[in-house]
Amino acid sequence: MDREMEKEALLPGGNPPPAASPSRRAPGSVRATISRIFWWLFCVVRIVALVLVVVQAITHKPIFNAGTRRDELTAASLESCAWDVLESHASLLSVPPIGRDEYIARQARLADALRAAGVDAFIAEPSASTAYYANISYTFELSERPFLMILDKDAQFSYLVPKFEAGRIAGLDMVYEDKKVIVWAEEESPYEVLAKETGFGKVMLDEHTRFMIAAGLQKAGVEVVPMSETIQSLRAVKTEAEIAILKGINAFTLELIRSLQKCIKLGMTQETVVSSAHALFGRVGVGSGFWAIVLFGDQAAYPHGGKHGKTLSDGEFVLIDIGSKLHDYGSDVTRTILPSDAVVSDELLGIWQTVHAAQSAGFHRMWPNETCSVVDAGSREVVKKAGYGPYYTHRLGHGLGLEMHEHPYLNGANNEKLKVGEVVTNEPGIYVTTEQAADVGRKVGFGVRLEDPILVTEQGGVPMTGRRAKSPYDP
Ligand SMILES: *[C@@H]1O[C@H](CO)[C@@H](O)[C@H](O)[C@H]1NC(C)=O
Ligand SMILES: *[C@@H]1O[C@H](CO)[C@@H](O)[C@H](O)[C@H]1NC(C)=O
Repeated sequence: MDREMEKEALLPGGNPPPAASPSRRAPGSVRATISRIFWWLFCVVRIVALVLVVVQAITHKPIFNAGTRRDELTAASLESCAWDVLESHASLLSVPPIGRDEYIARQARLADALRAAGVDAFIAEPSASTAYYANISYTFELSERPFLMILDKDAQFSYLVPKFEAGRIAGLDMVYEDKKVIVWAEEESPYEVLAKETGFGKVMLDEHTRFMIAAGLQKAGVEVVPMSETIQSLRAVKTEAEIAILKGINAFTLELIRSLQKCIKLGMTQETVVSSAHALFGRVGVGSGFWAIVLFGDQAAYPHGGKHGKTLSDGEFVLIDIGSKLHDYGSDVTRTILPSDAVVSDELLGIWQTVHAAQSAGFHRMWPNETCSVVDAGSREVVKKAGYGPYYTHRLGHGLGLEMHEHPYLNGANNEKLKVGEVVTNEPGIYVTTEQAADVGRKVGFGVRLEDPILVTEQGGVPMTGRRAKSPYDP
């Protein structure tokens, strides 16, 4: 707190009232006596206040908590408080991007898998898959005219491009050893051109490819098969370089939440927390992939958010689910926290503990060869036993990489097995709306979620955040 303002808060402002002026010439008057008492009282108050100000100047600690001032509730103030804590963690982001050799190695691995699957080529529109295999950004805007990346079973890289776009597309970032460009003119069918130029009999389409591409290829006589689980897992299983990036951005994201926890104050709005978090990511150059869900109290009963403008009151949790991107790889971390001077009821703390135990149960099942649905069920069991089964409304988690949500999905229907090198979120939650609150013996709704992305290793799960939460005060 700024010292000048603290003084103002401590001193009973202004000059003494005129009535308090001592009048020595009327000793017998009652009025003069009262005036004198007031004057002395005022002097005592001034001396005490002066002593307090001096003590505070020496100790740099506020003697009284004079309440939170408005300018302490702004995003700028939250950002600057959090930055003092966060700055020393910026080096977590000093991780190199994916190098050229790795792209070439990915193309070779894909070619091996295509040969094993008896498929001539893998075809994708600009998407996480083109970013993964050839560094072609998924932000390229799709149009009705197909622009397709083609990697064949001999690891030959080609692309199909509308003739009038060829120049622009040649200027995109792409990584390949050798490229072949297949151009189609406006008076031709792109699919017939592709079939004729390549002679492909059977191709595998990336899962994000639009149906019109599949239909067009089929019509041109090329058999189309969907992306196989084996080929999905090439991208789901992370390399050392990817793991280093994911660790960097996710550990930094957790430190950012921890720095906010130290600085959030009662009376702040959800939007204040969101904008200062955005600014904090921006300070270290990773603000462009920013997204956030920040929910106070009963707003968190909806996992993806409620109303705007809510301010934080005592007795409410703060749910922060936040992330950004480093070299296109995402972070996704959730903590349910309390500012150090705030408290919630023992029942709510118990719910936090239940979610933590559910997260532990999931975490301890994150071993290679464990079935995704079994991991999900393990965390659900804990919540069911505590009596909140129906309020754990979503799956346990999802893969994380170039996409914020990708394979494998940890839900009750997925029989895939976890593999060494996969990174999956572990994010159980309990959500009770105010309308449902009476059913669990409460008046007001709430939501609690904890989330860490976990790397699957031969020694079990490793949190990419560096550490799991210990309590709402030690997230
Ligand atoms: C991949 O593309 C990005 C820009 O989209 C570029 O900065 C980076 O250098 C490229 N990587 C390689 C290995 O070419
Ligand atoms: C997973 O299962 C496969 C095949 O069943 C086996 O070869 C592999 O050793 C197992 N991996 C681990 C880490 O248990």
